[in-house]
Amino acid sequence: MEEGSRKSSDGLYRVLEFYSGIGGMRYSIMRAGMSATMVEAFDINDKANDVYEHNFGHRPYQGNIQNLTAADLDRYEADVWLLCPPCQPYTRQGLQKDSGDARASSFLRILELMQHMLQPPLMFFVENVVGFEISDTHKQMIEILVKTGFVAQEFILNPLQFGVPYSRPRYFCLAKRKPLSFQNPRFNNQLLWSPTPILGSDDGLMDENVVQSCEPIENFLEVEPSSNQSESADLDLFHTSRVPGMVCTTLETKVEENGCGTGSLSQYIVPLGLIERWGSAMDIVYPDSKRCCCFTKSYYRYVKGTGSLLATVQPKKKGKFTPLKDQGLRYFTPREVANLHSFPEIFQFPQHIGLKQRYALLGNSLSVAVVAPLLRYLFVEPL
Ligand SMILES: C[S@@+](CC[C@H](N)C(=O)[O-])C[C@H]1O[C@@H](n2cnc3c(N)ncnc32)[C@H](O)[C@@H]1O
Repeated sequence: MEEGSRKSSDGLYRVLEFYSGIGGMRYSIMRAGMSATMVEAFDINDKANDVYEHNFGHRPYQGNIQNLTAADLDRYEADVWLLCPPCQPYTRQGLQKDSGDARASSFLRILELMQHMLQPPLMFFVENVVGFEISDTHKQMIEILVKTGFVAQEFILNPLQFGVPYSRPRYFCLAKRKPLSFQNPRFNNQLLWSPTPILGSDDGLMDENVVQSCEPIENFLEVEPSSNQSESADLDLFHTSRVPGMVCTTLETKVEENGCGTGSLSQYIVPLGLIERWGSAMDIVYPDSKRCCCFTKSYYRYVKGTGSLLATVQPKKKGKFTPLKDQGLRYFTPREVANLHSFPEIFQFPQHIGLKQRYALLGNSLSVAVVAPLLRYLFVEPL
């Protein structure tokens, strides 16, 4: 087989998805418009696999990635490896045990195995938290990639740079095995904080101002304004910017039961006790805000540092003080978190996945708006 041109008989790249979770990588491939054969996905979490199977009709291999052998990996004859290994060893909130953390071992193990494969992949993509790039695991990853004949380009990118009002900066490593090369080889071996190379501009790094400005959060909310909600002229669901008076969501509103199981919005109201205790630590956003904070897997279980809360009541005049308890604070629904992760509308949770599990699975996932263009850039072969 000719180096650099291995593909399945139908001419499609064969893809392995490691740490597949609820399928953020697979949605990114779809959004990128790449025709690929998804050969196998791997995840140890049965709930994540239930969600993946519900949406894609295929249940990922539910074993420990650490137990795979080089022969197992060779048997898949994969061209592309997509990996989202656990981020806890590298998070600022964690103990930062790095490669000494047991949760880093499966990733280190398959990197090690890659060197012993008869046919290592041609392309390699890793997503992780900011902080990974200074880790010992990162150092080992780059050493192995170089030894195995890869050239890498690295990025730290945020959905905000792609017009999504959501701050979730993440580290990405894109690598191609020689003789494959990147469209912009001058960014080889660099860590870039700008999406310029992947957005197709060839004349240097784009000024951040040129990157699209973000849409308002209201475009990502689940409930559309509905005329029969507004018996009072003061009420207009979520569309604060166009409303002259106080705006308020009727929290009894039924929202579409769309498989994200949102049901009644009342279950999303932030209890008064929490507001009194943690109000000063809460990140509050409004429907017309152009930014919200990263939703973590602990959203809804804890309020501090786990993601933004939505104020559904906003004073007539901006800047006028309204006590937090009067701002109609609610959690974003799982569907809204999925929207901010740019998951497609067809994505659904099976009914048996509970609310906290939904937030946990989404919090572990990724921004399709960021990963899709990165994958397109990785897959493209320069002429
Ligand atoms: C950061 S999440 C990736 C989520 C995924 N990108 C998504 O879109 O949902 C890491 C995933 O790796 C899985 N995982 C962690 N260690 C594993 C191991 N040793 N073997 C298999 N899966 C593992 C976890 O269950 C979790 O779903």
